Amino acid sequence: MKVLVTYYSQTGNTEKLARAIYDAIDVEKDLIPIGEVKSVEGYDIIFCGFPVHAHSVPGKVQPFFKKLLPGQKVAFFSTHGSLRGGLFPRQAFEHALSLATGVKIIGTFGSRGAVDTKLLDAIKKQQEHQAWAEEAQSAEGHPDAADLEDGRAFAIKIINKFR
Ligand SMILES: Cc1cc2nc3c(=O)[nH]c(=O)nc-3n(C[C@H](O)[C@H](O)[C@H](O)COP(=O)(O)O)c2cc1C
Repeated sequence: MKVLVTYYSQTGNTEKLARAIYDAIDVEKDLIPIGEVKSVEGYDIIFCGFPVHAHSVPGKVQPFFKKLLPGQKVAFFSTHGSLRGGLFPRQAFEHALSLATGVKIIGTFGSRGAVDTKLLDAIKKQQEHQAWAEEAQSAEGHPDAADLEDGRAFAIKIINKFR
């Protein structure tokens, strides 16, 4: 089994989670930033991670979805300032699902990720961002050891399911 772990990360949170996932799985594997992936051919499973931006998938991630092959098995992971399992990060996964048409989604995992404090102060003043920005104030220190452990468990479970 050959696995690709790919990610987009501006401030390192999603990269941390990607590395935890990559380290946890004992298969043939590659860890490649999303902008550097040339081809997805030959991968049995792809873990694809991104930070939630404005309840959705960052624009820079979206071209990658077009590279995915019909029926390819994809697991999404994300980091976000808002609370885990909440409506906002779920919305982002739904966007990802709607953009990655034709692939087989085999799992999703979200973790909190600290938000740059200057950005947070600026964003809190904007009406459309207030809801997640309020929640994001307590995201400092994430992803923490427990988040990364949950990420590893998520990855192992997926690999074992399709091994
Ligand atoms: C432009 C921008 C928009 C964001 N929008 C959201 C959002 O809608 N919901 C949320 O929970 N976090 C949001 N965040 C916070 C990031 O998702 C969070 O800090 C994430 O962990 C960053 O990951 P990275 O370090 O891999 O870039 C936003 C951050 C930025 C920079």
